[in-house]
Amino acid sequence: MSDTITVHDKCFIPYLSSNEIVEKVKELAEKINVDYEGKRPLFISILNGSFIFSADLFKYLKIEAEICFIKLASYKGTKSSGQVITAIGLDTDIHGRDIIILEDIIDTGKTINQFLPQVYNQQPSSLKIAVFLHKPDATVFPVKIDYTCFTIPDKFVLGYGLDYNGLGRNLPQLYQLKED
Ligand code: IMP
Ligand code: MG
Repeated sequence: MSDTITVHDKCFIPYLSSNEIVEKVKELAEKINVDYEGKRPLFISILNGSFIFSADLFKYLKIEAEICFIKLASYKGTKSSGQVITAIGLDTDIHGRDIIILEDIIDTGKTINQFLPQVYNQQPSSLKIAVFLHKPDATVFPVKIDYTCFTIPDKFVLGYGLDYNGLGRNLPQLYQLKED
């Protein structure tokens, strides 16, 4: 793995390699292939952070599957702003569908909890949540997560779609904020 990197004003240390990440994402795809055999789930990917996780996971699915995107945002710098903004809403009919929500990371749980009522209101036939990363120690708004690639400590991470003030999403591996 490569060394410490600097993004804006902060230093980050390597945390999860791209091989470790890809293996976990493949494992998750395999589970979904089994659990949804004979079905045609609709994935709802939450932008921006989930775009790389969603694309990678989607490539490894062998079942029939559809995907759509919505955009929610609550982060400013390395702390949750506490306010969730819907920048792009749901434009697909989800009534009677098997829905799997794709999130890059569940931190406080606020973003996902704000979005869930919109989904339930449209009465999907089933709803599951798949996350790339889960920080259980940061939970403020509990949510039932069905699939998780990695459970991580409550420290800010960067890469594989996750940013620090707009940068770092293109890093193929995951980095963790270096403590001063
Ligand atoms: P929550 O609403 O607090 O659960 O935050 C969820 C959103 O905050 C995620 O979709 C990410 O976009 C962002 N986020 C949370 N933790 C991190 C992190 O460690 N690095 C980068 N973005 C994060
Ligand atoms: Mg996000």
